[in-house]
Amino acid sequence: MDALLALDQGTSSSRAVVFSRDGRVLASAQRELTQHFPQPGWVEHDAAEIWAGQVECAREALAKAGVKPAAIGITNQRETTVLWDRKTGEPLHKALVWQDRRTADFCEQLKAQGVEPRVRALTGLVLDPYFSATKLRWLLDNVAGARERAERGELAFGTVDTWLLWKLTDGKVHATDASNASRTLLFDIHRGDWSDELLGLFGIPRALLPEVRPSAGVFGQAQEFGMPIAGIAGDQQAALFGQAALQPGQAKNTYGTGCFLLMHTGAQARASAHGLVTTRAAQVGPAAQYALEGSVFVGGAVVQWLRDGLGLIRSSSEIQALAESVPDSGGVTLVPAFAGLGAPHWRADARGAIVGLTRGSHRGHIARAAVESIAFQSAELLQAMRNDGAALTELRVDGGASANDLLMQFQADLLGIPVLRPQVIETTALGAALLAGIGSGVYASPEEVSGIWQLDRAFEPRMSRDEAGARLAQWDKAVRQVLAE
Ligand code: G3P
Repeated sequence: MDALLALDQGTSSSRAVVFSRDGRVLASAQRELTQHFPQPGWVEHDAAEIWAGQVECAREALAKAGVKPAAIGITNQRETTVLWDRKTGEPLHKALVWQDRRTADFCEQLKAQGVEPRVRALTGLVLDPYFSATKLRWLLDNVAGARERAERGELAFGTVDTWLLWKLTDGKVHATDASNASRTLLFDIHRGDWSDELLGLFGIPRALLPEVRPSAGVFGQAQEFGMPIAGIAGDQQAALFGQAALQPGQAKNTYGTGCFLLMHTGAQARASAHGLVTTRAAQVGPAAQYALEGSVFVGGAVVQWLRDGLGLIRSSSEIQALAESVPDSGGVTLVPAFAGLGAPHWRADARGAIVGLTRGSHRGHIARAAVESIAFQSAELLQAMRNDGAALTELRVDGGASANDLLMQFQADLLGIPVLRPQVIETTALGAALLAGIGSGVYASPEEVSGIWQLDRAFEPRMSRDEAGARLAQWDKAVRQVLAE
């Protein structure tokens, strides 16, 4: 039986999914992950909890599936920064999460020095606290003794994939894949290696860094499970792979904690003039693959905020009914810039707002505006891709919130192109499983796995272009207000 086990370590939860060879979900398990907010704008995770929760999920999913998979694929929240002791395996500090803004001032200082164009040319990224380099520097500067110990080679840095790989192999393998490395601000995406120039700029000792490998291939042996780890990719690149978006020009949007729109650009690294970043796609074989990416920091997380922050709903599943209780948002617009604004604005200092309230506004309108904010932000990303010259004719979607029909219809209405939802919306996990399947020889090639993608439903645009334009103009106005603060 050629089953495959995917470990999907996301921002809000850890999941493990066992897939059959033809991409069906045989079993899955999930654990919520505790979010720590020690100060406004700071977001941390406990790396020990990430590991423990992920292993529990794997055990549970395997027990439910009752089969022994051929290999494990890892996919993960990207950029989140873990620093640990090579000897004991103990993290030195909580992990600094991709949403954490504590290094915003440092990024501004670097920008003022005029280094951003050079950083951008090497990494494809912008100077923003989102990426790992300034987080790692913060840890080296703020944990007592960390810098000296790093220089002596006693510590290891990793994004979450690297941390899990290290733990699964009992500390034998310290490696990552090109898609994760490309999110650190330390990796030269053209040469495919860590950049000494960037290590110097950010003050990062090379001894901390993992080895970078292609996304499919045997990374090591997971001792407890008795099977190889044969695929690794950052969650957004894994989702692009799982959507079978393997040809230049094919795009997907994932509706998870954030929203991430990626378009494959093949062997060509395309630079954006409209606020997107250039990144490595999952790599099968020796040749580099690239994507253009737009990242929105708060997507589905706005629904969690309605639940936990405002107490407007008791569970996330209530959102669609509450949003559908009104015909429209009644002129209310919610800009969820809770962690600043990512692409295409890149304003770490931006803060959220609800505008357009009247005496008649009620919870239904706010819920509707929250759902719409996910689609509006994604529409800004697609528009940036169009401005960069991409002619997108359809958008594949996945992630938890893609199950929300109201949101998907509104998304198609705003974009004016069909939105295609596949049968498996756990595309991130599927992508990791498929990479592991290629890496362990279950599949012969990426072409073989692309036939696994099956359409569930196509949402065709129904709104007139005039109306869509008016709605987008209302959104633009609210965003301008937020940026003017
Ligand atoms: O870049 C951050 C991204 O990888 C997080 O993904 O699925 O946890 O929202 P997710």
